[in-house]
Amino acid sequence: MNKPIGVFDSGIGGLTVLEAVYKLLPTENYIYLADFKNNPYGVKSVDEVESIVVNNALLLEKMGAKLIIIACNTASLYVESIKKAVRIPVIEVIEKTCENACNVSKNAKIGVIATQMTIEKGKYQSLINKENKHAYGVKCSEFVDYIEHKFDDYDLGMKLVKEKINSLKEEKIDTLIYGCTHFSLLEDKIKTVLGDINYVDCGSSIAPFVKEELVKNGLINHQSETGKIIAYTTKDVQSFREKLSLFNLKIESVEEIK
Ligand code: DGL
Repeated sequence: MNKPIGVFDSGIGGLTVLEAVYKLLPTENYIYLADFKNNPYGVKSVDEVESIVVNNALLLEKMGAKLIIIACNTASLYVESIKKAVRIPVIEVIEKTCENACNVSKNAKIGVIATQMTIEKGKYQSLINKENKHAYGVKCSEFVDYIEHKFDDYDLGMKLVKEKINSLKEEKIDTLIYGCTHFSLLEDKIKTVLGDINYVDCGSSIAPFVKEELVKNGLINHQSETGKIIAYTTKDVQSFREKLSLFNLKIESVEEIK
């Protein structure tokens, strides 16, 4: 079954997920949608985000995707609406990322940095509390804008990171969840503040589950050739191309879709 796996995010963040999935499944084909036109999702209304992300999933299905990865925590909040809308398997990133963090934490103190909406919806916090562990959520929507538009300004990045996550140092967390797929791109800066703790990202947390779902649904691509990645953006195709150097991915082509 050589139909592509569809992956989407509001921008480049989902490429951190695609990197991890592609590393485990290099003979699968992928289509990636960077929805810059609607970026950022995390500060919009619930109705706006729900409508945007359902439409993105429908678009990927229409483009021939055999399975969809919601490579965005904010969009993953609406996984049930997306599952109702499409007829193909859908994988969200929050549950497996949370499960991974709960498994690695020893002192049951887990930090979550995510967008305003993801923190306010509290899905990470409630899943962590269900495991009798403590969750410390910090809204970091500003990080999305920094990563998408000012990433070459190291000092600004350090200033933002120190401002937003110093409080987690005081909580003595031993595990930090990147509750936004963009945020693992800040790991070098975050480690200067939080040091040697467990860092849990969405990509490595869901990659094994993607393989399980492909096998369960009989969707694995048995061809041996290396898979192709085709990327689409809803705007700013040139700036997307310029950001690709941040990722260890070979993207066959990038085009803007209306
Ligand atoms: N990468 C998205 C996430 O994981 C960021 C969403 C946004 O555009 O605010 O939530």
